[in-house]
Amino acid sequence: MSTASLDLNNIQGDILVGIPKKTQTYFFFEIQGDPSLFRKALVDIVPLIKNASQAQKDRDAIKEHKHKGDGTLLHMTGTQIAFSHAGLEKVCNTDPSADPFIEGQFKDAKNIGDAGTDSGTKFVPAWDPAFGDANIDGVIFVGGDSHQSVNHELQKIKLILGPSVKEAIHIRGDTRPGKESGHEHFGFLDGISNPTITGFNDKNAPPGPKAVNASVLLTGQDSKSSPVFVDGSFLAFRYLFQLVPEFNQFLKENPIKGDSELLGARMVGRWKSGAPIDLTPTHDNPELGKDPKRNNNFFYSGELKKGDQTRCPYSAHTRKTNPRADFTEHDREDALNERRIMRRGIQFGPEVTEEEAKHHRSLHGRGLLFVCYQSDLTKGFQFIQQSWANAPDFLDLAVDSNLKKIEPGLDSIIGQNADQARGVVGTDPAKPDGSISIPRFIVPRGGEYFFSPSISALRDVIAL
Ligand code: HEM
Repeated sequence: MSTASLDLNNIQGDILVGIPKKTQTYFFFEIQGDPSLFRKALVDIVPLIKNASQAQKDRDAIKEHKHKGDGTLLHMTGTQIAFSHAGLEKVCNTDPSADPFIEGQFKDAKNIGDAGTDSGTKFVPAWDPAFGDANIDGVIFVGGDSHQSVNHELQKIKLILGPSVKEAIHIRGDTRPGKESGHEHFGFLDGISNPTITGFNDKNAPPGPKAVNASVLLTGQDSKSSPVFVDGSFLAFRYLFQLVPEFNQFLKENPIKGDSELLGARMVGRWKSGAPIDLTPTHDNPELGKDPKRNNNFFYSGELKKGDQTRCPYSAHTRKTNPRADFTEHDREDALNERRIMRRGIQFGPEVTEEEAKHHRSLHGRGLLFVCYQSDLTKGFQFIQQSWANAPDFLDLAVDSNLKKIEPGLDSIIGQNADQARGVVGTDPAKPDGSISIPRFIVPRGGEYFFSPSISALRDVIAL
């Protein structure tokens, strides 16, 4: 199937477009008893699932409404559904042949560097028990403009599902208030760099990385696929707590040339405003940060000529998770495109309180409900976390004229290797080989791999 024939009415809305949301509730469920009860209830759930063309209409309506400028939000919700491997096995007879999905994230936690206890025969990640022992068969998540709209929609869904499911976990995410809206809890503007898709939104896309084929995000794009997998996507969910007062204190205690903001920017690869440090390496530029025509148009290519990390360390989060021209140098642009993921997370938890700020200690849980889509978890999320973020040697970075190999260390933000210290190289532009140890400011406390089927797979194969 070519991307020109993408069926937007068949693809769940969050994957390519994104469900608009100020708040989102994740209802993780376990199917009870005979799965046919659930499959029958699904008949009435399917019409509530927002597809990509409906999600696009919602986004257009919001844009239009914003132009009116009365400051109100349009009332709307968007519901999505996805199944774990255990759940998919219960509702349809199929072989996804996708390893991390079949194993589940609990078993994959060691591979992706989560802390935990290892008895030699069994590894148990230090997760919330609800995720640890949960029998999560699936997740229904509802995004919308307000808690009221979302709760109302979720009540309707629960009524339809009745006793066919049991709630396993319930988590609510909320975007941050006021001018922090769109910023994750460390304070950095997020959701800027997501792939554009050939034949879907590449025509008027702002300048930036090359568009990817839809098959990077959607499964079943060749004619041999079983109907369940056509137009679906694998969803990686991560319950990531962020130690914000501790992070802020670390920046304060380790400024670069007296500048704590600079250290933060060199850990992320962007300033808090979103401005990429590859374009503005010494100071923030909020105008650039919010300008979609410029804020993703960079390739780390100035660096390669210089062969150092003066503008942006290789260990910076954005450079580790999407190395851009660090790859094309070796004529591997398509290989890079295979590693792109569509990120759709939302923040959770309250703002830092005065007491937390004063004592530099987290007393309340907050962080990111990380969600990303890809057609293959081993090429997308799992690879990025395991082989880039957690790998000290990263790409084959023999970049200077003497072919001296640069070893960047871990991703400054998300890199992790069980309980080992997080060594990171290049944060100080004056000492490109200098290494520092950065404490963990992100604590994974749960997660799962899911599959988001198409509308037709839900309706014609899974529902009864
Ligand atoms: C980009 C924060 C977890 C993959 C970003 C950006 C920020 C950020 C501030 C820059 C904004 C943008 O380009 O959109 C965080 C925080 C995390 C987190 C605070 C955890 C709490 C993850 C995880 C992954 C990931 C777990 C995947 C394993 C990416 C990717 C980009 C990105 C692929 C875009 C890079 C680019 O194209 O330039 N993240 N992130 N992030 N993040 Fe994360």
